[in-house]
Amino acid sequence: MDAISIIRTKRDGGTLSPEQIDWIIDAYTRGAVAHEQMAALAMAIVINGMDREEIARWTAAKIASGERMDFSGLSRPTVDKHSTGGVGDKITLPLAPLVAACGAAVPQLSGRGLGHTGGTLDKLESIPGWRADLDNEEMLDILDRVGAVICAAGPGLAPADRKLYALRDVTGTVESIPLIAASIMSKKIAEGTDSLVLDVKVGSGAFMKNLDDARELASTMVGLGTDHGVRTVALLTDMSVPLGLTAGNALEVREAVEVLAGGGPADVVELTVALAREMLTAAGLPDADPERALADGSAMDVWRRMISAQGGDPDAPLPTARETHTVTAPTTGTLLGLDAYDVGLVAWRLGAGRARKEDAVQAGAGVEWHARPGDRVTAGAPLLTLHTDTPERFPRALEALENGAVTIGEPEDGVDPVRPLI
Ligand code: URA
Repeated sequence: MDAISIIRTKRDGGTLSPEQIDWIIDAYTRGAVAHEQMAALAMAIVINGMDREEIARWTAAKIASGERMDFSGLSRPTVDKHSTGGVGDKITLPLAPLVAACGAAVPQLSGRGLGHTGGTLDKLESIPGWRADLDNEEMLDILDRVGAVICAAGPGLAPADRKLYALRDVTGTVESIPLIAASIMSKKIAEGTDSLVLDVKVGSGAFMKNLDDARELASTMVGLGTDHGVRTVALLTDMSVPLGLTAGNALEVREAVEVLAGGGPADVVELTVALAREMLTAAGLPDADPERALADGSAMDVWRRMISAQGGDPDAPLPTARETHTVTAPTTGTLLGLDAYDVGLVAWRLGAGRARKEDAVQAGAGVEWHARPGDRVTAGAPLLTLHTDTPERFPRALEALENGAVTIGEPEDGVDPVRPLI
């Protein structure tokens, strides 16, 4: 077996055999296949795709590259949620404690942000003292005692995917439904959850810009999970508009805590409750009542215990940025559009996100918007507030608003500016 013949097979539109897939994933993980060879293969896959059998084998080979976690000793059923990534997507923060408060165990392995989408771990790290890195024993202990844990995946989990995703990120080979599906599902299957709910985002702020692609990604991932014995369901949710009213790290933690306190923006509450219902049904707890767990404080109680168990102080004031800049509405009318990608770009350029893996993020940086599509806005009233510790970033962040990020006008007859969320 050799890398060049495998690259040629895919370059010429052929199908990779199970043996070729097992060999190249293993050899790349061990360092026996060079990055440039794997990059060439990834590009051939982006261009020529993979069939169902190839995707299944590619996923299985990545799972086999590392360890599988085992939650069978827990008394509760395990269920996890994965979002394909969006702007202002803080849903994991209230969702994990909420589902735990309703009786399931939630082992939530999350990532850091890259580019215009935020990362759950970056958000939680704005809480003073909170730690993302736990060993497997610590993770199991928190899961057992508290019912929910949100932490970084350990180095032993699907190491082939860790290496390959880092390579795809710098070679323009992320945007491929087979590669994205296999990447996400190899980690989730290796994690060992009993059930999984996928939140597949669609719209300008998501990987999938249109509904057909999002549906294909969702059904590919549901098929992979089901074939590996993980009860898997997917929701397709709108990411043409950012979620809630904030994008940033501490800003989003504040909004998540508002939801856990029984308030928060209506769309964040709607999606949190809808995903909780799917997770609880998948976990065999269809009669659990997530709305009650938000209203009676039990979800907040799990949140506080989860944050404390990972070294965080749930009562500590959250960091705020040193400088703010207000953008006012240029005209009076109805807010017709607020583009998720552009808002994500503003938050990123203000310092909430990173351009390279090794960059630090600012805890207080980000953007708040004071209206959502469908709301009336008045000329001169605040529309967005930009937050950063480094005000020299304001001009470049503001440039991201120059290409139609915000649309104000009067809705056409019969056209609702508010899109269905789910
Ligand atoms: N998230 C992942 O984990 N992998 C991808 O390929 C894309 C998004």
